Amino acid sequence: MVRVMFVCLGNICRSPTAHGVFELVVRQAGLEHLIEVASSGTSAYHIGESPDARSMTAAQDRGYRLSHLRAQQVQIEDFEHYDYLLAMDIQNLTVLQQQCPLITHDKVKLFLDFGSVGENEVPDPYYGGGQGFDHVLDLVEDASRGLLTHIRSQL
Ligand code: 4NP
Repeated sequence: MVRVMFVCLGNICRSPTAHGVFELVVRQAGLEHLIEVASSGTSAYHIGESPDARSMTAAQDRGYRLSHLRAQQVQIEDFEHYDYLLAMDIQNLTVLQQQCPLITHDKVKLFLDFGSVGENEVPDPYYGGGQGFDHVLDLVEDASRGLLTHIRSQL
């Protein structure tokens, strides 16, 4: 089993989007029995909440479902359980690197390290307009394909 956790700040916009997109990518590849998908936030701001309505609408327009997800905060045990803790931006990468036990340091990466569009951060869409949510989806779809290719090569 390969275990992947996507991490942003609030776990209501970017990481639930990555969670929903990658979950479908994995299912379409027939690998849901081999790859576990989760998401979390480095902050406690939105624990227990559904994804942001703007993220759910933008995702739904492309055929992804996020409504079953609820925000949670990264726990210290997550660094042991998951094989990949993939941060949406450098701010959250830094927080994860500060929190993680030294032995798990290599599990913490930027999600867009697996992308091909030459950007390394998924910008926070929370305070912006609707097109920010579509841009998140563009980046997440691209990096999800790259991540699946990478994990397949390791199976
Ligand atoms: P996310 O977006 O990290 O992609 O879930 C945000 C959600 C909430 C806040 C910031 C970013 N906030 O400040 O409440």
